[in-house]
Amino acid sequence: MASHKLLLLAGDGIGPEVMTEVKKLIDLFNKKGLAQFSFDEGLVGGACYDAHKVSITDETMAKADAADAVIFGAVGGPKWDAVPYEVRPEAGLLRLRKDLGLYANLRPAVTYPALAEASSLKRELVEGLDIMIVRELTGGVYFGEPKTITDLGNGQKRAVDTQVYDTYEIERIARVAFELARKRRNKLTSMEKRNVMKTGVLWNEVVTQVHNREFKDVTLEHQLADSGGMQLVKNPKQFDVIVTDNLFGDLLSDIAAMLTGSLGMLASASLGEVNPKTRKRKALYEPVHGSAPDIAGKGLANPIAMIASFGMALRYSFDMGKEADMVDNAISAALARGLRTADIAAKGEATIGTTEMGDAIAEEIEKQVV
Ligand code: NAD
Ligand code: IPM
Ligand code: MN
Repeated sequence: MASHKLLLLAGDGIGPEVMTEVKKLIDLFNKKGLAQFSFDEGLVGGACYDAHKVSITDETMAKADAADAVIFGAVGGPKWDAVPYEVRPEAGLLRLRKDLGLYANLRPAVTYPALAEASSLKRELVEGLDIMIVRELTGGVYFGEPKTITDLGNGQKRAVDTQVYDTYEIERIARVAFELARKRRNKLTSMEKRNVMKTGVLWNEVVTQVHNREFKDVTLEHQLADSGGMQLVKNPKQFDVIVTDNLFGDLLSDIAAMLTGSLGMLASASLGEVNPKTRKRKALYEPVHGSAPDIAGKGLANPIAMIASFGMALRYSFDMGKEADMVDNAISAALARGLRTADIAAKGEATIGTTEMGDAIAEEIEKQVV
């Protein structure tokens, strides 16, 4: 059996709490002979800043580069609000994405049957929902230059962020999204603001070209990102795959979280280019949520987004689709048993904590091992 080398970066706030639940699954997979995982751990975010005055060290970057997959918790929190921008906790995550070339961020939003009531929308709007947001992750306004704050000397300052996209960046993310749509319900919706932004004009043009050249069999629609956001809450089931830029993808995926019941449910995979020689790709798996300072340290966090992100690692890095299905089924089964962390509980429902939810999911995986 192939052995897989993981790097676990738990980070801050609820990051370490939800990572503990993934470690349980790693142990379980090893013990049951389903896989052979080894793992190393490292500091990232505020935890790394406190120790090294940077939010990720070169040594940890080298380990991330050498790992078969990085499993990432969450970073940030009020403790580091005054830390200089360049070394903020979030900068560690951005460096991982950029330096590892993780341009394709897959953010599935799936409403589990038992949770249709947990969404802020009506049951009939979200029941059976299964959409995939494909967010461009290494370009756009997150990384464009110049990115500055200048003192104008008259009591005024000027802040500049720059949105930049080159053709190749749009082409490669469009291909990822079209390929996914082909394996799903064959529909792709591209979102930008071509009515205001030059990058939107180019985005629309390039996605259309890729469609015409390579993916004529997939239905392509274009929506302006603002009305796309409205459509996501008006009629979410019209969507299959959505492809959009770095910033719009960030906003739209947090909106999509509430279709599933909670940010604590949303997993993600950040993928690089496949190396044609090794057929491997760099990858990082992380929940969409942050460090949740309001509930950190209390054992209340929902570990499902983190566990489902580990499930995505099985699927996208290790060709373990069957085992990834086992993880998804186990999450479904735990929810069907009525187990709820506070974020997904209806009023008056009994709730459990992070550990109990992790234990229940591990138990449900064990039941599926023959
Ligand atoms: P957040 O995602 O941390 O929290 C938003 C709300 O959702 C909070 O009420 C929180 O309690 C709840 N929530 C989030 N995850 C949950 C879970 N697993 N279970 C139950 N409830 C959950 O967003 P925020 O409060 O805007 O940001 C806090 C910090 O996290 C900031 O420093 C931000 O930059 C950072 N952040 C990091 C990441 C990341 O590391 N990938 C992602 C988003 C935000
Ligand atoms: C996310 C987060 C990050 C982002 C932050 C923490 C850098 O919000 O992964 O959604 O904006 O991409
Ligand atoms: Mn976000």
